[in-house]
Formats: sequence, C-alpha cells, structure tokens
Amino acid sequence: MHDVTALVDLAARMPKAELHLHLEGTLEPEMLLQLAERNGVAVRFSSAEELRHAYDFADLQSFLDIYYEGTSVLRTSDDFYTLTAAYLRRAAEDGIRHVEPFFDPQAHTQRGVGFEDVVDGIISALRESERDLGVSWRLIMCFLRDLPATDAIQTLGDALPYRDVITAVGLDSAELGNPPEKFDGVFDLARSEGFQTVSHAGEEGDAEHVRRTLDVLHVSRIDHGVSAMTDPELVARLVRDRVPLTVCPLSNVKLGGFASVRDHPLREMLDAGIVATVNSDDPAYFGGYLVDNYRAAIESLGLTREHLHTLARNSFEASFLPAGEIEARLAEVDAFFAQE
Ligand code: ADE
Ligand code: ZN
Repeated sequence: MHDVTALVDLAARMPKAELHLHLEGTLEPEMLLQLAERNGVAVRFSSAEELRHAYDFADLQSFLDIYYEGTSVLRTSDDFYTLTAAYLRRAAEDGIRHVEPFFDPQAHTQRGVGFEDVVDGIISALRESERDLGVSWRLIMCFLRDLPATDAIQTLGDALPYRDVITAVGLDSAELGNPPEKFDGVFDLARSEGFQTVSHAGEEGDAEHVRRTLDVLHVSRIDHGVSAMTDPELVARLVRDRVPLTVCPLSNVKLGGFASVRDHPLREMLDAGIVATVNSDDPAYFGGYLVDNYRAAIESLGLTREHLHTLARNSFEASFLPAGEIEARLAEVDAFFAQE
C-alpha cells in the first residue's frame, strides 16, 4: 500500500471534510458561459478554452480580478442553486462527507442581487445534497476585506435572519493592505450575535499577519496560514492551541506562493503537529478539486498512509460540527483505516 496510485485511491475513498472552498470559485467555464447566456450578461470570453487560457495568475490580485468578473453571471437564486448543486455532486464523487463552503455576498449585493436570493439558492442545494448524497454542511459567509468595515457590518445585518443556516463568518479577498485590525469591531459583533469566526491569513501576508489575526480577530481557524511556517514560535502556538489551518496546495502554487507543490510546507506542517487540512479553495480556477489536491501532495511531497489518516481526522476535528458528531466522525475515520 505504498505506491502513489494506491495512496491516491485511499485519499479518494477515506471519509473526509472540505473546509476551505469558495462556492464562487467552483464556477466552471462551461457553466459561466451558460449562465451568461441565460441571464443576458456580456462576457469578454467566447469559449471555455479561452477562459481556461486566461486562468494564468501572477498573484492573488490577478486571480481576484477574474474571479469577480466571473461572479457577474450569477444573478438569480436558481443560479446559486445550480452552482452549489454542481459542486456538491463533484464533492460527493471525491468522497467528501461534510462541507463548510464560503460565499461572498458582497460580490453579489454590490451588483444589485438580493442577499436572500444568494442564500436561498445555496441553502436549497445544501439541503438537497444532505438528503440525497449524505453530505452534511455548515455555511460560512465571508466579508471582502478590500471593502470598508462599514460594508461588512451592513452585510452582517443582512445575515442576522439567517443565523440558523449561516454558522460562521470569514474574511477573504486581498490580504495585503487590509490587516485584521480593520475588522476587529465586525468580528466582535459577529461573535456577540452567535457566529463562529474564521479568516484567511498568511496566504500572501507574513507570519505576523497570522499572529495578529489570532490576537485581534480571535478566530477559531486560519484559512491558508502557510507563512506561519517561517516563525517557530507561532508554529509552537498553533500546535499547542490546536488551531486548524485550512491549507490549499494547488491554489498556493497557482497564485505564486510556491514554485511547485514540491516546495509546499504541508508535510512539514503535519510533521510539526499542526492541525492542517487539505482543501481546494477555488477548484474551477486552480485546476483541481479535493482529490486532485491530495494527489498533488502525495506525488510531490511523499505523503504516507499515516499522513492521510491524520488529514482525514483533522478535517473533522477542525469542523464546526458539534463535539459528539466530531467524535462519531473520528471513529468512522479510524474504522476505515483499521480495515484498509
Ligand atoms: N477569494 C476567493 N479565493 C480567495 C483566496 N484564495 N484568497 C483570498 N480571497 C479569495
Ligand atoms: Zn480561500
């Protein structure tokens, strides 16, 4: 059971969760063009090949520019349903049993789309896939950190009637120039309203950015966090406090953080005892869904069966499922590995 193919097969079949996935980042070129036509939205690309060709990014901002351009075709509740349902079918094929996807309401409400249309479409797909495919879920609403904090506060207000279906708030978009301190008040408010909190940090920002995100925003997990590896004291803190990092290897390479997956610190993170998880971030743009990320890490970093067992366990430990449910999922992971 040591060859790469067998390990990738194991990764595909093992019970696992995906905790870092932007629903808007699952918009495949074919669906983008179909929705553009259905909604009469003009796009500057005429074929899926042309779109894929444009997905060559120098950094986070060059990706975000095209990602927001793509979101312009999403207009109705049914569009958000279609997008989410397609991702969930793909997730189930990858052996994902639990998902905690992000959505970016401000990318849509800014264009005049109703907050309720976005959430209603997403929720109906999540409920359907829980019933039909057995994929459980928690939903995370992200604030765009390059917009003013006052916009985030307004968006938090929009989310209050949906507290039963939106579990957590997060922070994404351009990290550089938009430090955690900009959102301390919004995150305090969100917590006082009963939301869990997460934040992107250490994707382009340095280890200090990760540390301040923990100190200022008091988040329960960090999305990416790869730059933390340059700071041994921070690594010790992450290990001691079991702060999960939702790591996205293909994304980090596509956006120029590392020259190749061979240079990615995922294996060192696991070997140091960090509660790291593997995730796909924006799979339609980065050339791979969850198992593709596992495959890349197995091939390039030599992950072992023990690493995979730990990653599957970490994905449930780091989730927002209730404690008893986490215990049950961990037992399921252990039983799977015991009979393999
Ligand atoms: N929004 C969508 N994908 C993102 C990423 N990788 N980093 C920050 N914001 C994002
Ligand atoms: Zn992300």
